[in-house]
Amino acid sequence: MLRRLATQRLVQIRHAFNPTSQTSRSFSTALNYHIDTPDNNTELPWEFNPKNQEKVKEILSHYPSNYKQSAVIPLLDLAQQQHGGWLPVSAMNAVAKVIEVAPIRVYEVATFYSMFNRAKVGKYHLLVCGTTPCMIRGSRDIESALLKHLGVKRNEVTKDGLFSVGEMECMGSCVNAPMITVADYSNGSEGYTYDYYEDLTPERVVEIVEAFRRGEKPPRGTQNNKRINSGPEGGNTSLLGEPKPPPCRDLDAC
Ligand code: FES
Repeated sequence: MLRRLATQRLVQIRHAFNPTSQTSRSFSTALNYHIDTPDNNTELPWEFNPKNQEKVKEILSHYPSNYKQSAVIPLLDLAQQQHGGWLPVSAMNAVAKVIEVAPIRVYEVATFYSMFNRAKVGKYHLLVCGTTPCMIRGSRDIESALLKHLGVKRNEVTKDGLFSVGEMECMGSCVNAPMITVADYSNGSEGYTYDYYEDLTPERVVEIVEAFRRGEKPPRGTQNNKRINSGPEGGNTSLLGEPKPPPCRDLDAC
């Protein structure tokens, strides 16, 4: 019995670490260690550009001056937008300098949150939701359609640098599953957007990719034209009347 359980556990562990497995998980660009490369090393200078330096001041103004480190997440986010969607070590060091902490304190945050990318991503980083409601509604087919159409593996960037495909956990849009987010880094931090595309089919997600390739901005939100936002397909089936006002709205009359 014990041996059988141990064997089952071993199979589960192997399955979890097999990148071709249907149940494999890979978050964001999933690089939680640093190896010096020509475009990612501590010798490369990095600083916020003049426009973003103004934003840095604005972000810091939200926190007491002796708690600058609380601004680490918005500052990393801004650095990532400025750097085309990923965080080289010198950008993290620049953030550490701004908030006056040891660089390791910034590395800890950047490697913990999956929205921070530690390796290059495409100008359009496509994040497929892989959590249960989206998976039941076909997120694996959405991801396969994207990978096949773009000719990449998960977390790889297309040769033209335009697209990459990652995975995220539930993005709170389960009622419109399956869905993806498109992080658009094509216009720096000034034009950065992070939009949801919902109620997808494999065909529709490919159309969306091609629209981005043409430089268009496809309409975000539900892609099912029989729904309004998260409303039921075909219109409401309940709560059809006008809602009653709350009692005692006229406080003088109560
Ligand atoms: S499971 Fe995909 S948005 Fe919640």
